[in-house]
Amino acid sequence: MGHVSTTAKTKPPLNLLNTLLLNLTGSYLSEFPNSDLNDYFCRMNFIIETTLKAVKHLYNTDISAADVNLQETRKEFEGQVTIVTFPFTKFSKKSPEQTGTEIGAFLQNELKEVSGFNVIKGFLNVSLSNEYWINQLYNEILPDDFAVIEPNGKKVMVEYSSPNTNKPLHLGHVRNNLLGFSVSEILAAAGYQVIKTNLVNDRGIHICKSMLAWQKFGNGETPESSGLKGDHLVGKYYVIFDREYKKQQEELKSAGQSEEEAKKNAPLIKEAQEMLQKWEAGDEAVITLWKTMNGWVYTGFAETYKKLGVSFDKFYYESETYLLGKDIIEEGLEKGVFYRKDDNSVWIDLTADGLDEKLVLRSDGTSVYMTQDMGTAQLKYNDYHMDRSIYVVGNEQDYHFKVLFTILKRLGKEGADGLFHLSYGMVDLPSGKMKSREGTVVDADDLMSEMEQTAKEQTEAMGKVDDFTADEKQSLYHIIGMGALKYFLLKVDPKKRLLFDPNESVDFQGHTGPFIQYTHARIRSVLNRANIINEYNSYSNLAVEERDLIVSLTQFPDAIKNAAEAYSPAVIANYVYELAKVYNKFYHEKSILQAEDEESKQFRLRLSAASGKVINKGMKLLGIEVPERM
Ligand code: ARG
Repeated sequence: MGHVSTTAKTKPPLNLLNTLLLNLTGSYLSEFPNSDLNDYFCRMNFIIETTLKAVKHLYNTDISAADVNLQETRKEFEGQVTIVTFPFTKFSKKSPEQTGTEIGAFLQNELKEVSGFNVIKGFLNVSLSNEYWINQLYNEILPDDFAVIEPNGKKVMVEYSSPNTNKPLHLGHVRNNLLGFSVSEILAAAGYQVIKTNLVNDRGIHICKSMLAWQKFGNGETPESSGLKGDHLVGKYYVIFDREYKKQQEELKSAGQSEEEAKKNAPLIKEAQEMLQKWEAGDEAVITLWKTMNGWVYTGFAETYKKLGVSFDKFYYESETYLLGKDIIEEGLEKGVFYRKDDNSVWIDLTADGLDEKLVLRSDGTSVYMTQDMGTAQLKYNDYHMDRSIYVVGNEQDYHFKVLFTILKRLGKEGADGLFHLSYGMVDLPSGKMKSREGTVVDADDLMSEMEQTAKEQTEAMGKVDDFTADEKQSLYHIIGMGALKYFLLKVDPKKRLLFDPNESVDFQGHTGPFIQYTHARIRSVLNRANIINEYNSYSNLAVEERDLIVSLTQFPDAIKNAAEAYSPAVIANYVYELAKVYNKFYHEKSILQAEDEESKQFRLRLSAASGKVINKGMKLLGIEVPERM
């Protein structure tokens, strides 16, 4: 791909990440107007400053730092920093090549860090000295505060998972949970105070269906009595309800009722609706059953969340929020944002925003999904006064959130400008193993067990775990299986629909979590066989593979910031993959333990330690563990 536009007012971010993002999201510059955030430009400020001096000295013109367009040098060229010289030809009145050569010579003369340069088609590629890069390792990367970003004083809420309590979590939830957790970790690493929330849909007709079926057909089954995980047990009765309800519909249809009539008139659905009314009236027996069955579900969810490695700071329950939002209807009517129709229903006209007219309160005065979500947004804001509020919800609700956010903005609600729908596409499975049966979805717990199994098969085939205890093996298979699953789902832009291939995801040689985990284990193994001795620190014979690795490492803080700005774990996933590849190249080209001298060995050990640390931290931002050995 070509160089980034030179006409952008702000400086483009570094090339590698930019390329990644362009590939992933098709956009970058528009989403990242704030280059102040960029660590790269801080680090390269000495180049920018001296370029200003050069332009002043050579062409007697004052320009500002914003006019200096810096990029990472593309892989195929010599150098590490590239300055775009076209904008300066205005002042130099010379060709871009000549201008580049003059500025390059000036930089080399002024800065001891600049060891050389070349000019290709008006791009001035600057090489920084070995000493500069070695110092980057010693003074920037190795210290403990590397890539530790200062708190920015801003609060962000990330709502994710938000399941219904009538059935277990499925593959779609897995993507949701992994995204929500990873984005939270990334935002925290970028300096935000993060509140992870889960809005549990614990009430409504769906849960009444499970309750009713259990009452009728359950014979008192409990998770204890049958050994079935609580959420699966409740889900089983949801399926039974559906089956029995369909039977009744068939009977009514054979007796001459239309499809629609049969749906409405089947005794089971009527009973479920009565149960919901009783729940709303606070009927003791119904509430008790509801609490019991939801309790089973929560125990089951907790287990799944633990396996997934996700957690929450605050749970909201729809049973406590479903009546909220009605006061906002009043407020909106007073402000003239909403209007009432003759049948008493309340609406908002969003045609000016390219949306349509939307019902916000039914004619009988009951709420709709939108009403509740307006109320919940207000409740969240009252609780936390966050600067940003992110909703991790599937793309089938894109329209809902567009409308919700537009309404809240029109109402002038505080925090309305910080609302963001982190929308994601569906996950499919290839046919064969684990393919969902027609009409059913892939269960999250089953999927995780399958992943552990696949990891086990792959690892045993490689035969490297003979000296592991049974417990160690179990834990390793979990780490690898989950690493494979998480990495595969997170390396892709959230918006894209995704085909999850379990076997491909575990490929130790591929663009996978296990490849990166393996690289980490390789590093740990090297480090475990030698001691780092701090006296050795006058290495000077830097090889290209070593320098490239240092260059890669210095990009970590930017990867964090860019991932946070884009709410995209894919930025981190792809960064860590590139780093692992660069490390492996170094590892294959240079002997570490058998290095030519102790000075070289010590340098490479420290370079390895730094790489291991960054890989570990990067994977942690994806919610992925890295093993010591594998
Ligand atoms: N429970 C809902 C569902 O499963 C998702 C809720 C999303 N969050 C929200 N604030 N609307 O479809």
